[in-house]
Amino acid sequence: MRDLVDSISPVLRDVMSELGVEENDWSDSLAGSTDSAYADVTLPCHSLSRILRKSPAIIADEVALLLGDSLNGICSVSSVNGFLNFSADADWLSSIIEERASDTRIGVDSENPRVIVIDYSSPNVAKHMHVGHLRSTVIGDALARMLAHKGHQVIGENHIGDWGTPFGMLIEHLLDIGVDTPAEKIDLGTFYTNARAKFESDSIFADRSRKRVVKMQASEPETITHWQMLVDRSLIHFNEVYQMMGVLLTDDNLAGESKYESSLSEVVERLDVAGILKQSEGAHVVFPKGWVNREGEPLPLIIRKADGGYNYATTDLACIIDRVEEIGSTEFLYVVGAEQAQHFAMLFQVAREAGFMDDRINAIHVPFGMVLGTDGKKLASRTGGAVHLKDLLIEAVERADSMISEKNPNLSDEERKEVARMLGIGAIKYADLSTDRTNNYTFDWEKMLSFDGNTAPYLQYAHARICSIFAKSGIVRSSIQNSSISLIHEREQNLARRLIGFPEALDNAISHHLPHKLATQLHSIAQAFASFYEVCPVLKADDEATINSRLALCDLTARTLECGLGLLGIESPNRM
Ligand code: ARG
Repeated sequence: MRDLVDSISPVLRDVMSELGVEENDWSDSLAGSTDSAYADVTLPCHSLSRILRKSPAIIADEVALLLGDSLNGICSVSSVNGFLNFSADADWLSSIIEERASDTRIGVDSENPRVIVIDYSSPNVAKHMHVGHLRSTVIGDALARMLAHKGHQVIGENHIGDWGTPFGMLIEHLLDIGVDTPAEKIDLGTFYTNARAKFESDSIFADRSRKRVVKMQASEPETITHWQMLVDRSLIHFNEVYQMMGVLLTDDNLAGESKYESSLSEVVERLDVAGILKQSEGAHVVFPKGWVNREGEPLPLIIRKADGGYNYATTDLACIIDRVEEIGSTEFLYVVGAEQAQHFAMLFQVAREAGFMDDRINAIHVPFGMVLGTDGKKLASRTGGAVHLKDLLIEAVERADSMISEKNPNLSDEERKEVARMLGIGAIKYADLSTDRTNNYTFDWEKMLSFDGNTAPYLQYAHARICSIFAKSGIVRSSIQNSSISLIHEREQNLARRLIGFPEALDNAISHHLPHKLATQLHSIAQAFASFYEVCPVLKADDEATINSRLALCDLTARTLECGLGLLGIESPNRM
């Protein structure tokens, strides 16, 4: 509870300096408590023992005594086992919550704007997007929204895999099945695997493929036309998925591997000039300092293969140069699976050693774990093959649709469809975003679509419930946003505490690139709302002042949930 820390600090500073303790020695320890049922903010006095040469318990007692009633109106103070515990007063909570209620940004401030590139989604041409790309898309989209909300200039880059040697065989395969094959007839589920199978079994095809690569690198017009067709076909698929998911990515965000093709030779040149380009078994490589293989030999980052072809890493180096020198960004996030951790660690180091980026540049790999099925194994379709994202999204909406029909048969067809879309897609996104991204997460339909627990439907339901209170009352929400709020009931105070914590949770989520920190706060808000609503009548409260106070609290709750879910890329229906 940083707001309370801010209110306590100046008063505590006076008392501490009276005792001869400098601010540096206590200010970092003053922080939110582990359990807000007992205290909001705690100062453990253990580290002060060394300075004051007294037991923590005695120090805590003394400080409490010296504080006396100086924090009245802010919080109460108690000393327990060497801890100083501070619990916010209802009046203090009210004053903060009133501020929030009348603030359109509900307490979220803007930071000094930075230009931040987020590399996310990044599927591969001529293949179906897989669940790893789903995670990257969902997490990247949430980070983009959160950072933009804090005032940053976010540049989303979709680094699609649209160049490289595999395109030789892909184009030859396209020629085999006929270049006039209508786009919708090309099955991305099998295209890549069929091409690869032929490449491996048919030496004439393999030979053609290799020749095609050479033509492609020479930008031979006909070859480029075929290549473009594969890209276009794939973009139809990607965009379909993005649209269903409601993410921010469009064709404007494309910054695929092909974009950097023409600067690859320059990368090699610059690595050479930097004196770090080495020859190894016919290939051009860089040995980043400190990297060794299992045998203890230096580990290379391959820049140019013996056959002259460039590598994934070479393109990524060109991409870094572009982000630093053309885009002028000082911060890039790569939302890519944990299995590429070594690639990025080596890449960043080589970019630094080559002087492509200096210490002012913050390049961060934002890794995530795998998606598992309920059987604990890597998620697979019913037939055992890779799961098609589109099917997954369709199924989510269908399942949500039947849930809604059961729950609220009064919705019109049109409204039910719209709500089902928000719930189904929201459920998939939230299941991903509410777990620590560094862990694997289990894809479980029952759990993610449940109205109980830490799920999108639970949060969306809390929001819709508040909307229905207002709908029933006929009161316009904006009309009560300046009402005075008195937090009489303990559960009102608890709800207020959760709401006050929203901007801080958002900042935590952003600074660690961990969306689940925001999701956890939203869930605790929805829970606190449910327990408030269980015992505190709103429209039937005793007097007008309480009605308005509680309506204002409800409205702020709904706005916070809507804003927070929105920052995770999840919509909040008004009815469901
Ligand atoms: N296309 C790659 C894949 O599917 C991900 C690209 C990530 N971005 C990057 N700049 N390397 O694995």
